[in-house]
Amino acid sequence: MTDDRRLRVALLGAGSVGSQVAALLLQHADELAARAGAELELVGIAVRDPDAPRDTDLPRALLTTDAEPLILGSDIVIELMGGIEPARAMLLQALTAGADVVTGNKALIATHGPELFEAADRVGASVHYEAAVAGAIPIVRPLRDSLAGDRVQRILAIVNGTTNYILDRMDSEGADYADVLADAQRLGYAEADPTADVEAFDAAQKAAILASLAFHTTVPLDAVHREGITAIDAQMMTAARDAGYVIKLLAVCERLDDDGAETISVRVHPALVHRDHPLASVRGANNAVFVQAEAAGDLMFYGAGAGGIQTASAVLGDVVSAARRHIAGGVGVGESTRANLPIAPFGHAVTRYQVTLEVDDRPGVLATIAGILADGGVSIATAQQTIIGGSDGADLASSRALLVIGTHTARERDLAATVERLGASDAVERVLSVLRVEGDGR
Ligand code: NDP
Ligand code: HSE
Repeated sequence: MTDDRRLRVALLGAGSVGSQVAALLLQHADELAARAGAELELVGIAVRDPDAPRDTDLPRALLTTDAEPLILGSDIVIELMGGIEPARAMLLQALTAGADVVTGNKALIATHGPELFEAADRVGASVHYEAAVAGAIPIVRPLRDSLAGDRVQRILAIVNGTTNYILDRMDSEGADYADVLADAQRLGYAEADPTADVEAFDAAQKAAILASLAFHTTVPLDAVHREGITAIDAQMMTAARDAGYVIKLLAVCERLDDDGAETISVRVHPALVHRDHPLASVRGANNAVFVQAEAAGDLMFYGAGAGGIQTASAVLGDVVSAARRHIAGGVGVGESTRANLPIAPFGHAVTRYQVTLEVDDRPGVLATIAGILADGGVSIATAQQTIIGGSDGADLASSRALLVIGTHTARERDLAATVERLGASDAVERVLSVLRVEGDGR
């Protein structure tokens, strides 16, 4: 197919990321050839509409709607179309033909990664997907290679730029959720359907990939507990700020001691992060991955989690790696899933909580609430009451209070059952919010 010093590269997709990858492959051809050890010849770019406007100037002759000849005639196939099909079928075809593949497709890796990795193993090829998690930030390779000799204990990660942008502006400006979401869409951070961002489907896919790498275990997407940010309101933001926290959408991947058995918990939900924690300083649409490893200690990887040119950097790094393997020969490095740790049900997760209740301000209420928590095995760490209705003591019948309870660590299932009992109690008018507290040094 090629001589030793020339590799054929096919690109599938020339949208936000693909058009930048193509432009950089063409502009920096000499430099990339020197780094890869071979000329990287872009032989063609498959798109849906060759005449559609592009973000970069690309030679019209490279654009085609016929992907198959490109896939079958190339050493490296870069997939930047997105979605499951036809991306999955095309990458399987490329791998079966012996090509190395590079993709930024988190949906595909999170749902069909094992199938692609097996196809690669059968022919000794490799699957590269640095861009699939946190855009430009190098995190796949650090987890797979740099930390391969360590034991990752926990990952706390901001992996969705849209939701971080929304929560950051709600926190810093008191902005309204709907207004900020509209801005995120206008600025191009949000997916075409923002549900993928705000309901945390995008972050859950990235969490599944991070946990698979960190714990050497195949983590199916449906094993990831997922909660989005649509229930977060201005009152919760203010309460978090007053208590010294900021609300972030976090991907949490951690080892658990589950009644003596080692398991892992993988979940995505809004969480209170103390303002002193490095993740609290991640502003705007940026991403960050905070890794706690047994020997290395705390590490943080920070930067642009999206954007065409930024993400193209990660894709090109993978292309150079794939090219080096072709030049050196030998089989590609496969995925390490040998630990195969059990994935704990969400109810087994252990963390701290902040529960905000609206209660009647009358004698015995606190004692009743404390009793319900004690019965549920949930230990109170802090409690703060603010009178919100009536006048303090003057009109007891109509007086209401906000009661914010911080708990010690508790199991999710115990906390959930306790909150249900609180909600049903005469002492509690309403359960206003239940937020998990993460990154507090557990
Ligand atoms: P876009 O929607 O901007 O581009 C998709 C491209 O794929 C278009 O050029 C489109 O062609 C082409 N395409 C779609 N379907 C087909 C098909 N059936 N046959 C041939 N071509 C097809 O996507 P992005 O560039 O934003 O994203 C690409 C991938 O990178 C996705 O997997 C995404 O999740 C991932 N990613 C994106 C990031 C970002 O910031 N955008 C960040 C990190 C990862 P046409 O132009 O003719 O319509
Ligand atoms: N919509 C995604 C985000 C793009 O907001 O982070 C990158 O995957």
